[in-house]
Amino acid sequence: LITRALQNELIIPSWQEFCQHIKDIFLKCRDITDGKVATYIPQLSRVDPNKWGVSICTVDGQRASWGDCKEPFCFQSISKAFNYAIAASELGADVVHSYVGQEPSGRLFNEICLDNNDKPHNPMVNSGAIIVTALINNKLNLADRFDSMINAYRQIAGGEYIGFNNAVFLSERQTADRNYALSYYMKEKKCFPPETTNLTDALDFYFQLCSLETNCEALSVMAATLANGGVCPITEERCVKNRPCRDVLSLMNSCGMYDYSGQFSFHVGLPAKSGVSGNLMIVIPNLVGIAIWSPPLDLLGNSVRGVAFCKELITRFNFHTY
Ligand code: DON
Repeated sequence: LITRALQNELIIPSWQEFCQHIKDIFLKCRDITDGKVATYIPQLSRVDPNKWGVSICTVDGQRASWGDCKEPFCFQSISKAFNYAIAASELGADVVHSYVGQEPSGRLFNEICLDNNDKPHNPMVNSGAIIVTALINNKLNLADRFDSMINAYRQIAGGEYIGFNNAVFLSERQTADRNYALSYYMKEKKCFPPETTNLTDALDFYFQLCSLETNCEALSVMAATLANGGVCPITEERCVKNRPCRDVLSLMNSCGMYDYSGQFSFHVGLPAKSGVSGNLMIVIPNLVGIAIWSPPLDLLGNSVRGVAFCKELITRFNFHTY
């Protein structure tokens, strides 16, 4: 990084100026007080709604952060993007997509519905995500599967903070009627791989991955790994294969923001994934990964400040893909 800086070869040469813009956007969005934190589990309902963090990491490893960038939050639905990238890196796109589609569902993320082929619509809705997690290392026992996933997450994060929130896991498991209903429906429709013989185990693994924790700093490195074609910019290690990296960004672009994905793609034009903890990851391919955390959500389940941040970003920079 230092050599590149001295040779004036940084991907964002006017770093101070760029960071000043991000800071301005950060301060502007801090004034927004709309939205409500998720209340379906006590652990999320107790989070301070004023928390506000932003971190950025470029594909050549320049870093900056503002606000509550070291405070932990759980991945929730952002895990769906990484689970897919890891599963597709291991098994290949063809195997994964023999179980799950690529089409936006046009329905709520946890709705009990399948596509015309009786497959979940895509890996970013609950049904698809449950099937994707059921494909990962499914010949191993649960403990080894968990170990291998947390290690894969840590590798993508360049060794930065990835933890596990057991209270969130236990709560998720206790309020899981919809996910059980979804899974029994999918079992009836033969959506699961043959290795899945126990739905409780399959769902526990899915809840465990939703309950992994990170912070804005680490999540920005993970986003930057996706921006960098699957190679972590901090360690220069390849953690996601080329093709799954491209594919996960396509899916994030079309399905990453719940039922706001079409509008987000229209207005912002960047691949992104949000989670119910108020986290949001945005990938600007070949440039920078951005991680945002602000717990209050809009009616569609996206972080209010997060979406406002993205819109403001696009008014200042021509990052919109189209
Ligand atoms: O499965 C659930 O209901 C939640 N834990 C999913 C988390 C989330 O962010 C909502 N997602 N799509």
